[in-house]
Amino acid sequence: MDGNGRWASKRFLPRVAGHKQGVDALRLCVSACVQRGVKVLTVFAFSSENWNRPTEEVSGLMSLFALALSREVPKLKAQGVRLHFIGDRANLSQSVVDGMSKSELETCTNETLVLNVCFNYGGRWDIVQAAAKLMAQGTSVTEQSLSSAMALSHVGDPDLVIRTGGEQRISNFLLWQSAYSEFYFSDKLWPDFDEAALDLAIVSYLQRERRFGKTTAQLAGQHDSKASTA
Ligand code: IPE
Ligand code: MG
Repeated sequence: MDGNGRWASKRFLPRVAGHKQGVDALRLCVSACVQRGVKVLTVFAFSSENWNRPTEEVSGLMSLFALALSREVPKLKAQGVRLHFIGDRANLSQSVVDGMSKSELETCTNETLVLNVCFNYGGRWDIVQAAAKLMAQGTSVTEQSLSSAMALSHVGDPDLVIRTGGEQRISNFLLWQSAYSEFYFSDKLWPDFDEAALDLAIVSYLQRERRFGKTTAQLAGQHDSKASTA
């Protein structure tokens, strides 16, 4: 969800005003995903590297996160959204950690949309914590065992990864899980990423051919064999 700071700067507002607007954009995006039947949405709210930002911005983001949790959870609950917080909780304040656990518990029976909020998250952190977990258990490392030890093991790999704000890099997001994801880059700053922008991303995704290492001819053959057995 990139571009909050620039959105604010363009309006001569403090950066945290952009982050506030970013929460509004996320609320709209979640509703749009629910309406479109998306089953899993994973958002990158705060990275392991975001601690390096000015202290004022980091504390602004922490306060906003706590406020958003208390305000948004009732609405999410009503929409059938199940929340998961993904990331290292070790350096977070007790109130933020408690808020996370409470929201996860309050929404744990919901099934319409899984919303994973990556907070104090990094793709490298997840790979390392998964490997460390396996080593501590004495389990051998395989693609399967590592996948199931990852913080996002409760959902499948993402079909589509959207990056807003005009940057074309992955910035330590879903490094393991995005091996075969389709990527979509939008120039829209996150607060401006509306339903129409989401639909453009989905339409672009629908035009891709996902081969997972195979050839187009093989995929066509698969369709044929499916059709003949249907
Ligand atoms: C949001 O956008 C990302 C968060 C850390 C919440 P940015 O804060 O990176 O916005 P820009 O890139 O400075 O515009
Ligand atoms: Mg940015």
